[in-house]
Amino acid sequence: MARQIIKINVKTTQTTLEKAKADILAIGLYSKGAKQALINKLDTALAGEITRLKKIGDFKGEKGTCAILYTRKKIAAERVLLLGLGEKQNATADTFRCAASKAALEAVKINAKTLAVYLHDEAKIDLENLAQAVAEGIHFGGYKYDEFVTQQEDKRAANLSAAVIDSNQRAMKKLTAGVKVGQIVGQAQNFARTLCNRPGNVLYPAKLAAIAKKIASSVPSLNCTVLDEKKMAAKKMNAFLAVAAGAMNKPRMIILKYTPRSAKNKTPVALVGKAITFDSGGISLKPSADMHEMKMDMTGGAAVLMTMEVIAKLKLPVCVYGIICAAENKPDGASTLPGDIVTTYSGKTVEILNTDAEGRLVLADGIHHAKVLKCKTIVDIATLTGACIGALGKHKAGLLTNNEKLAGSLEKASAQSGEPLWRLPCTEEYADEIKGKISDLKNIGSKYGGASTGAAFLEQFAKPVTWAHLDIAPKMNASQPMTKYTQPGSVGFGVRLLSSFIMNLS
Ligand code: BES
Ligand code: ZN
Ligand code: ZN
Repeated sequence: MARQIIKINVKTTQTTLEKAKADILAIGLYSKGAKQALINKLDTALAGEITRLKKIGDFKGEKGTCAILYTRKKIAAERVLLLGLGEKQNATADTFRCAASKAALEAVKINAKTLAVYLHDEAKIDLENLAQAVAEGIHFGGYKYDEFVTQQEDKRAANLSAAVIDSNQRAMKKLTAGVKVGQIVGQAQNFARTLCNRPGNVLYPAKLAAIAKKIASSVPSLNCTVLDEKKMAAKKMNAFLAVAAGAMNKPRMIILKYTPRSAKNKTPVALVGKAITFDSGGISLKPSADMHEMKMDMTGGAAVLMTMEVIAKLKLPVCVYGIICAAENKPDGASTLPGDIVTTYSGKTVEILNTDAEGRLVLADGIHHAKVLKCKTIVDIATLTGACIGALGKHKAGLLTNNEKLAGSLEKASAQSGEPLWRLPCTEEYADEIKGKISDLKNIGSKYGGASTGAAFLEQFAKPVTWAHLDIAPKMNASQPMTKYTQPGSVGFGVRLLSSFIMNLS
């Protein structure tokens, strides 16, 4: 790989808006409902430039908008970036996360090396949570996948050094604590994006396993075991192996274990991720348009890996297993055929009617393994179905579960992390659709309701354990509204969400 991805670092600095030294000073302005005393002071130092910009209508403070001002040495920063926060009464932590993201996106666009951020003027949200969101946002927006660009026409900086600023000593304490968490989560999310953005010839199951091993060895109390195809065969993980049968790159089940002595839960939680490093569909081959995007069919697995890193780095007192089901789905002479029947790790038999419904097959064995490890809560995360995109568009991921309390916990984590979920049903009718005729189960249901039949299939392997399934196919890559805040490609969906979910258990 020719190039190292922009290194982003976020810290806090105690200073004023006028004295902050940076290539860009980014500030947040509401469209309605706030006096913003410190920003008015800055406006005075800038001889009323901010007021003028508002007056001529170039900037109204609306959400997602921004405008740049050149300071001509009136203050220490070279430029001021005004970021719209919308109406104050509607502002949530995610409003600030998005604004911070926009600031970093703009900073990287003009090759800025230093960014000072002050968004929390008059904010009514707990400063620690807000600072975490801002740090996460800076990482999110500053990310750009350009490992393989060798003709460096954009001459971008190698680093982006950002500081959340405030002049108040008391505020500093909370801001620093929040930024510390946001830095860890933001970095993890961006590395998940890199893993997903890497093409299939670069990142295949064995490579992902090697990276997981390296991550585990660099963080205390995180342990990593890798099952290769021989070990998986010995355990009779035949559903998993059926998916990988046609691939030259052999599958791996990656098992991360985090069981700190301080743990409050003695029965571990399992996070199970689908990591199909390339999904061609197999013998049920996908059409070629956009097939390249299926290098990101490992988004769930990447989210599990990087969440495990976050949990361990933050030393959270919770026992968690991360199970990553890594395989490549390819057509070949040795591939599984439509109609083949396999006996899964659990003993249940499945008729594989469509080899493109492969995620549920690797997850069936991954989920069963979570049960073997005595996990009492299982959350799986997978780019499982195109049908989920049909149901929700690209705006929200699907949440399907057999437990109301778990639904509530995940919805809470979703609100905190700004990674949106929407409930979809997973009731008996759907389970009836995947009952087999010549086997226990079949891997597809009828033409409609694919997100729910996919989940119902997984539930057969999870039950009676408390379980939830996150179908993140809609959030596999950045869609229209998101590209206002970040570059296209993987958004590393799930790292923030699962990190918040586990943080709330501690
Ligand atoms: N990885 C795909 C689902 C997907 C589609 C994710 C688009 C992201 C964007 C999955 O393995 C798949 O192909 N599912 C099939 C299931 C069907 C055969 C029952 C689908 O959605 O068409
Ligand atoms: Zn598929
Ligand atoms: Zn897939």
